[in-house]
Amino acid sequence: MRRLNLACALAMVVVFAASPAAAQWTSLGAMSAPRRETNGLTFRNPQGTVTITVVEPNIFRVRFAPRQQLGRDHSYAVVPGDRPDPGAAFKIASDRSVITTSALQMTIRHNPFRIAIADSQGNSLDEDDPQNGIAFSGSTVRVWKRLRDDEQVYGLGSKTGDLNKRGRKLGGYNYTMWNSDTYAYDPSTDPIYVSVPFFLVLRAGRSHGVFFDNTFRSNFDIGHQSAGLLSFGADGGELNYYFINGPDPKSVLTRYTSLTGRMPLPPLWSLGYHQCRYSYFPDSRLRFIAQNFRERRIPVDAIWLDIHYLEGFNPFTWSAERFPDPPGLMADLRKLGLRTVVIIDPHPKKAPGWGPYDSGLAGDHYVKNPDGSLYEAPVWPSQAEKDPGPSVFPDFSKPATREWWGGLYAPLLTAGVAGIWNDMNEPAIFDTPTGTMPLTVRHDNEGQPTDHRAIHNVYGLLMTRATHEGLLRLQPNTRPFVLTRASYAGGQRYSAIWPGDNVSDWTHLRGSIATLMGMGLSGLSFVGSDIGGFAEAPSAELYTRWLQAGVFYPFMRTHTAFGTPDQEPWSYGTYHEALNRRAIELRYELLPHIYKVMREASLTGVPALRPLLLEFPDDPNTYGMEDQFMFGSDLLVAPVLREGMTEREVYLPKGEWFDYWTGQRHRGGVRIRVPVTLASIPIFVRAGGVLMSQPVVQHTGEMPGQPLRLRVYPGPPREAGLYEDDGESLDYTRGEWLLRQVTSDAAERTSTVEIGSPSGSYRPAPRSLEVSVPWAGEPSRVVVGDGQALPRVAPDALRTQASGWTVDQGFVIVRQPDSFGAVRVTIER
Ligand code: GLC
Repeated sequence: MRRLNLACALAMVVVFAASPAAAQWTSLGAMSAPRRETNGLTFRNPQGTVTITVVEPNIFRVRFAPRQQLGRDHSYAVVPGDRPDPGAAFKIASDRSVITTSALQMTIRHNPFRIAIADSQGNSLDEDDPQNGIAFSGSTVRVWKRLRDDEQVYGLGSKTGDLNKRGRKLGGYNYTMWNSDTYAYDPSTDPIYVSVPFFLVLRAGRSHGVFFDNTFRSNFDIGHQSAGLLSFGADGGELNYYFINGPDPKSVLTRYTSLTGRMPLPPLWSLGYHQCRYSYFPDSRLRFIAQNFRERRIPVDAIWLDIHYLEGFNPFTWSAERFPDPPGLMADLRKLGLRTVVIIDPHPKKAPGWGPYDSGLAGDHYVKNPDGSLYEAPVWPSQAEKDPGPSVFPDFSKPATREWWGGLYAPLLTAGVAGIWNDMNEPAIFDTPTGTMPLTVRHDNEGQPTDHRAIHNVYGLLMTRATHEGLLRLQPNTRPFVLTRASYAGGQRYSAIWPGDNVSDWTHLRGSIATLMGMGLSGLSFVGSDIGGFAEAPSAELYTRWLQAGVFYPFMRTHTAFGTPDQEPWSYGTYHEALNRRAIELRYELLPHIYKVMREASLTGVPALRPLLLEFPDDPNTYGMEDQFMFGSDLLVAPVLREGMTEREVYLPKGEWFDYWTGQRHRGGVRIRVPVTLASIPIFVRAGGVLMSQPVVQHTGEMPGQPLRLRVYPGPPREAGLYEDDGESLDYTRGEWLLRQVTSDAAERTSTVEIGSPSGSYRPAPRSLEVSVPWAGEPSRVVVGDGQALPRVAPDALRTQASGWTVDQGFVIVRQPDSFGAVRVTIER
C-alpha cells in the first residue's frame, strides 16, 4: 500500500497538446512489480491497469485502461483462435521486467512505466518516449514513442497524400481515423472512408509494425507536433496495441494479417474489367452498353447498377418502370458473358408495410436513439422523386441483425445478381454537419451496448461481414464478391474496397497509386480506384492513361458520377478506343498471372499491387517511390501519370530486368528514360521471373481451353508456382487446384525450363502450353522431355500446330499440348 502511494506521488502530470483533443495528460508513473499471467504480465497502480501479452514470439500485445480492471476482451478486427505457447521467458525484478522470446526482448521499466522493445541481438526497435510514455486524460488514451530520423512510416489504411506517412523528413503529418463520406476529396483530405489503425515502420531495411486495435476516433501523429515523436491515441476505449516484428516488411504484413485475417481468393470474374456509372438505366441502356463491348471487341466481365435501378433509391427494391424484368435482363447479359453487380446501401427506407422494413422492425434490427426511439435520418431515399422519406439503419454490431441482413439478398441472387456493392456505410447521413449519425445513437456491440463513438469506424466492416456471410449462406459453394467504401482493419476478410469519390484529374490518377499501395501495406489487398475519376470528366488522354494504370489495380473498374459525360472505353473517339481496348486486353492477357498473384496475397497478406520497398527494403531509393510499383514480385510497372509525356523515367532496382514488350535486358540499380507514346505502359520483368498469360479473351468465361503461356526470364533461380483452379467455387479449399513449380536454368549453350509435377486435383480443359524465353539470335534445336526434338515453324503458323517452336520478336516460343504434368524444355544455341 505504501508503495502504491509512492507510485501516486511519482505519477507525472504533463500538460501539452499533442492530441487534437488538447488534453491535460496524466502520464503513467510508477508501477509495482507485475503479476504473472499465462503468457503475460499485469501491472496496476491507482492510475490504471496495463497488461502485456506475448501473442506469439514475434507479436506482443499491450493493453492499458485508466481503470482498475480492463474491459471485455473483444475485437472486430482480430480473428479469434488459439495460438501455440509462445515459449516466452519472464524475468521480474523490482525496477524492471524483461520478457524474452526467440525473436524479441521487451524491457518494461517500472518507474516511470516505460516499454522498450529490441530484437534478439539487442537492437532497439521501439521505445516509449521517456518523458510521456502511456498517458490518459478523461476517457482519452495515448502513447508517445520515439521516432528516429531515419524511420519511414507506412500504412494507416486508405489515406490521401504521400506513401510515406512520415511525410516531409522532419516535420511529418498527423492522421485521423474516422470513416467519412468525402466526395471529391483532395490530396490533403483526411480522414476519408476507411480506418486501419496499423502502421509499418521501416528503418534501413529493418521493419516492424504497430496495430492499434481501437475503434473509436483515433489519431496518429507521425513526427508532426515534435519531429522525434510518434504518438497515437483514441477518444475512448483502451490503449490496445500489438507490436509486430519483421524483420522484413513482408513478414510484418504476414504477421499482421495472421491477426486480422486475409482476403479470401476472389472469384476469377471479379478480376476482369468492370464497367460502372452512376447510373446505367433503364434496362435498354444496359443492353446497349453490353452489346457495344461485345461488338467492339473490348473485354469486360461485369456491369454495375448504381442507385437508379432501385425504387426511390431504396435498397432491396427494383424500379419497375426502369427494370421491368431483372431476371430476364441479367440472364441475357449472362449469355453475353457479363455478370451484374448491384448497389445495396445500409439505409432501408422507413416504409411501414414494405417487407424488409417491417421484418427489420419486428426483429429489432435498427439502431435507436438514447430514449429508445428509432433513429431515422435522410440519405438517398430522402431524395427520391416520388414519395421521398427518411431511412433507418441496421445495427450490424448485433449478430442477429447481420444474419437478417444477409438473408435479404436471397431474391437478388435468385434473380441473377452476381456481386454486391455496399456503399454509404461510413455511415453517411445527409443534411447534418457531421455527415454521420449522432454519437449518442445506441448499438448492441455484440451484447455489450454502447454508443456510436465505438461503432462508427466498424459500421462498414460489419455491414460487409453481414453481406459476405449472407451470400455464403445463400450460395455455400460460390465465392462471394462484395465491394465496400467504408471498412476497418480486418475488412479484407469480407470485401474489396475502393477509395470512394475521387476526381477526374491527373493529381488523382497519380495519387491513386500511393493510396492503393498504402492500403496494401495495411492488409487490404483487393483494391482499386474509380478509373477515369468519379467527380467531373477526364480528357481522352487522362482516361486512357488511367485505364493503363488500372490494368494493375487489383480491382479494375471504370466509374463516374451522375450527369457526367459518357465514360465508356469507346467514348473518346476511335483512336482512343483502340488504345483503351489494348489496355483492357493486356489485363486479360495477364489474368492468369494476376490471379496467381492474388492467390499468393490471399495466403500471405502481401498485397498484389505493392510498393517497391516491399521487394527492395534495403534500397532507400524505394522508400518514397510512388509513381511506379510492383505487381507481385516479378513485374515492375511504371505507368505514364502525366499529361503529354514523350518519355518517362523508370527506376530499376539492383539486379537484372527485361523490358516486357521487347525482351531487352537492362542492368538495374539505375534510372532509365523510356520513350513513350500514348500506347505505352512501361513494364519490366525481374530476371528469374515467370509470367503466366493467355491470348486475349472477351471475358473470363472464354478462358477454358485457351493456351497457357509461360514467359520465363532467365536469372537467379526464384520460386515460381503456376496456380489454377475453377475460379468460382470453394472447391479449391478442398484441394481442387493445380499447382506446378517452374524452374529455369540458363547455361552458356542451353536454356532449360522445368515444370515440376503437379499437386492438387484440379485439371483445366485440354489446351496447349506455350513456353517463351527471351532469346538473342537463333537457337539450333529445341528439345522436350528426354530428347524429343520439336519442329521449327514460322511464327504465324505456330498457333495452328499441336507442337513446334518458333522465334518471334526476341523470344523463342515452344508449343506443345499441356499434359498438366512435369515438362522439360531445352533450347540449344
Ligand atoms: C456515392 C458513391 C458513388 C456512387 C454514388 C451513388 O457517392 O461513392 O460511387 O456512385 O454514391 O450511389
